[in-house]
Amino acid sequence: MKAISIRKTEQLRGNITIQGSKNTVLPIMAATLLGSGISVIYNCPMIEDVVIMCKLLECLHAKTKLENHVLTIDTREVSYEALPYELTTKLRSSVLLLGPILARWKKVQIGVPGGCAIGLRPIDIHLDGLARMNVDIGCCDGILTGDTSHLQGCDYHLRFASVGATENLVMAATVASGRTILRGVAKEPEIIELCNYLISMGALIEGVGTDTLIIKGTSVLGAADYCNVYDRIVAGTYMLMAAMVPCEICLLGIDDIRYIKNIINVAAELGVNIVRRDNCLKMQSVGKVHGGFFRTGIFPEFPTDLLPVLIAVLIQSEEDSVIEETIFENRFSIIGELRKMGASLTVDDNRVSVQGGKHLQGHTVLATDLRQGAALVVAGLLGKGYTTITNISYIQRGYEDIVRDLKALGVSIEYV
Ligand code: UD1
Repeated sequence: MKAISIRKTEQLRGNITIQGSKNTVLPIMAATLLGSGISVIYNCPMIEDVVIMCKLLECLHAKTKLENHVLTIDTREVSYEALPYELTTKLRSSVLLLGPILARWKKVQIGVPGGCAIGLRPIDIHLDGLARMNVDIGCCDGILTGDTSHLQGCDYHLRFASVGATENLVMAATVASGRTILRGVAKEPEIIELCNYLISMGALIEGVGTDTLIIKGTSVLGAADYCNVYDRIVAGTYMLMAAMVPCEICLLGIDDIRYIKNIINVAAELGVNIVRRDNCLKMQSVGKVHGGFFRTGIFPEFPTDLLPVLIAVLIQSEEDSVIEETIFENRFSIIGELRKMGASLTVDDNRVSVQGGKHLQGHTVLATDLRQGAALVVAGLLGKGYTTITNISYIQRGYEDIVRDLKALGVSIEYV
C-alpha cells in the first residue's frame, strides 16, 4: 500500500484505542543493551520504527520478537558489531544506540542517523556530552566512530534541552565511573519513562522530571520489563482533529493525563469539549474551530510534533490564526501540500499565518515526514471530494494504522 484515499466527512462518531508510545519505546529498546537478560515490553506499537530498531539490536546479536504488541528482547548473547549505514540512516533514533553501545563495548561505529527531514537536526549535543565523558569521537564520510578507555562521569550543561541527547547521555552515565551531573536536560515524558525504566534495571538516578539529573554510575545493570504508556502525539492528533468535524469520540487507553495537559488545553481552545472518565477521554464538538495564537515549545508546552496537525485544523476556522514554532527550523513542509488543497498560508521566519474561512478541495498530496503525513490525512477529512495522500510509509513509521482508527469513527478512508 503506497497511498491513502479519504473522502470528505460530515461527522465523526466512535472509539479509538490509542497505541503505545513510539518515542518512549525506542529509547527503552536501546536501554535494554545496558543489561544482560530478557526484557519484555508491553503495549509496544506495531510500527516501522520499532521494526527497524529491532533489526539494529539484532545486528548486535540481541534476539527480538514482536507479537501482539508484546516485544521481547533477549540481550544475553549480545556482542559488538559496527551498525550498517543502510539501517541507521532509516531511523533518527538509531543515534540513541551511541550511549548504550559505548557503555557496553567502549567503542562504536554507526552511520550518521537519518529519519524525518525536519530541519538540520544536528547531534552536536550528543557528541559533545559523550566527549565530556571521555569518548574520542570521529566522523568521516557519514560514519561516526567513538572510542573510550572507560566512560567517566562529568558535570555537563546541555546548551539546549534536547530530548535525544538527554536520553543518550543518561544511558551512558548509568555505567560511567563516578557521578555524572547533567544540567539543563529535557523533561519530556519520554525522559521520565526512560529514567524510571533505567532505575528498574538498577541504575541510580536522582532528579527525574527536573532539569538536573544526577547519576551515580554502577558497573552492571540487569534486564527489566516495561509497560509502555500511550502515545501522546497520536492521542493529540485525534484530539485536535475533533475540533474540525461535528463529533462524539472516545479515546481509550488514556489512563493518566499528566503528559497531555497542554494538548487538552489547546483542543479545548479550538472548540473541543473534553471529559475524562476512567481510562477514556470523551470528546465532543460542533465542528466550528476557534482560531487564535498558538506556540510550540519544550514540555510541558504544546508539542512541536503536533504543529502540522494544528495548521491543518486551523484552516477550517472562520478566524485567522498564527502559530509559532520554537523547536525545529523547518517544520513547515506541510504548507505547500495544503496550498494545493486551497489553503491560504504564509510563513514569516518561524511563524505561520493561517487565513481562516478557506474551504479545502480534495487533491493528491505528498507525505514527506511522519507528522506532516498524518496532518494531511486530517486535512483530507474536510477536502471536498477525495484526497489522496501518497508516500505513506512515513505515516506508518509512527501511526500503527491511521486508516483503521479513522474507519472506526465512520470515515470513508482506504489504502490504495
Ligand atoms: C525528539 C522526538 C521528536 C520531537 C523532538 C522535540 C523521538 C524519537 N523524537 O526528537 O518527535 O519532535 O524530540 O520534542 O523522541 N538539537 C541540536 N543538537 C543536538 C540535538 C538537538 O541542535 O545535538 C536541536 C535540533 O536540531 C532541534 C532541537 O534541538 O532543533 C530539538 O531536538 P531534540 O530534542 O534532540 O529532538 P529529537 O530527540 O531528535
